[in-house]
Amino acid sequence: MNQFPENFLWGGAVAAHQVEGGWNLDGKGVSIADVMTAGGNGIGRKITHGVLDGAYYPNHEAIDFYHRYKEDIQLFKEMGLKVLRTSINWTRIFPNGDDKEPNEKGLQFYDDLFDELHANGIEPVITLSHFEIPFHLYEAYGGFKNKQVIAFFVHYAETVMTRYKNKVKYWMTFNEINNQADGQHDLHTWTNSAILFNQNESQAKKEEVIYQAAINELIASAKVVKLGHQINPDFQIGCMMAYVPVYPFSSKPDDQMAALKVMNRRFFYSDVHAIGVIPNYILNEWKQKKYSINVTEEEKKILREGTVDYIGFSYYMSGTVTTLDEKGDLITDYPKTKWLRNPHVEASDWGWQIDPVGLRYILNILDQRYHLPLFIVENGFGAYDSVENNQVHDQYRIDYLQAHIAEMKKAVLEDGVNLLGYTPWGIIDIVSFGSGEMEKRYGMIYVDKDNAGQGTLTRLKKDSFNWYQSVIASNGENI
Ligand code: BG6
Repeated sequence: MNQFPENFLWGGAVAAHQVEGGWNLDGKGVSIADVMTAGGNGIGRKITHGVLDGAYYPNHEAIDFYHRYKEDIQLFKEMGLKVLRTSINWTRIFPNGDDKEPNEKGLQFYDDLFDELHANGIEPVITLSHFEIPFHLYEAYGGFKNKQVIAFFVHYAETVMTRYKNKVKYWMTFNEINNQADGQHDLHTWTNSAILFNQNESQAKKEEVIYQAAINELIASAKVVKLGHQINPDFQIGCMMAYVPVYPFSSKPDDQMAALKVMNRRFFYSDVHAIGVIPNYILNEWKQKKYSINVTEEEKKILREGTVDYIGFSYYMSGTVTTLDEKGDLITDYPKTKWLRNPHVEASDWGWQIDPVGLRYILNILDQRYHLPLFIVENGFGAYDSVENNQVHDQYRIDYLQAHIAEMKKAVLEDGVNLLGYTPWGIIDIVSFGSGEMEKRYGMIYVDKDNAGQGTLTRLKKDSFNWYQSVIASNGENI
């Protein structure tokens, strides 16, 4: 047999803030994504204090999915998607985050969207928080470092899970919850937890705050998993992790140990999500660094009771670390460990290492560690495309996806990994999260819009569209 299991969930993935636009329509409040300006390849995005006149915020219009989703769903249907992963924009439902009553127009939008998907044979897979926390929760509460925010998230989740209990089965709590582990990147602590650090803050202080926010999110997630199962016992509620397998650069035993230590910074999150306990390697780290992280016995019980049904994760690249005296970027929290470019793999124009075997490797690692179903909810190739005669010949994207699907197939068919589905990222061109560019394109559907926000927003099928259509139609036999 050369096909994926029957009912394998072939799909595509996007996130509300990267596609919808309509940032202030029908009662929607300001989210943290609405105050991020455009950056560029190698140029970081800026976070502004509120929405400033004259600044360009690419997520404000995005690709106008808010008004064009019917047209886009027709293309998804033609492609053969069985599922579409997107998120609910928290501020459409609770504009400030701490509101008591939800915004009916926001709820109605997702009713309409989910109905349209179902009417076209596509099941929604929903992330509750994909970098869309209300800006007000940052201003008034300091984001997730404040335990009060847990209750706001749970209230939001309960509202949408109740409303859509017969329309959505697959949920995820926090997108790439682990991406904030490295406090050096403002963008990640901001988008995951709505925390902005003062630049003079020590690295240790930042890390302590991030751990507190992370624990608060993990508690919020566990509460929602438990609650969701009460709302509908058929719900499948997962976590969402960014998995970048980290390899030792050399066979020097210290390099192997360094790679394990760096991996622990990711495993921490999925260990708590999936096993329900805070692992010893983290408790010990907190003790050694004299961090005081507030977790009560009652909260530990919540963590145990709210373990996830599956592990959702993104996979784009692998990383390599070394303790050898090589030139590289120091990973500050683990002395003398450095990131180093892997000489055995290529990289994209944005420097992301292309490593299909890494996907098979991490699928095996996660399968063996958690014994839970896995779901690849992001994978893809951000690249520059050019349009000639209304066509986009994106063989490079097909090559990337083809190689990754081939390795995923080996993981399922040869290694016996229990994989629910595959939703490649940015199935349609969207605003890049990291750079705010439109021209870092992942899509199999081209959207006519450039980095400055100019364009007709017209959609166009790329070569990869037809290729993926045939992959799905043959259930992965023809790749
Ligand atoms: C993941 C995010 O980090 O990677 C997405 O979940 C993001 O929101 C994707 O878009 C690709 O990153 P980028 O920076 O190329 O858009």
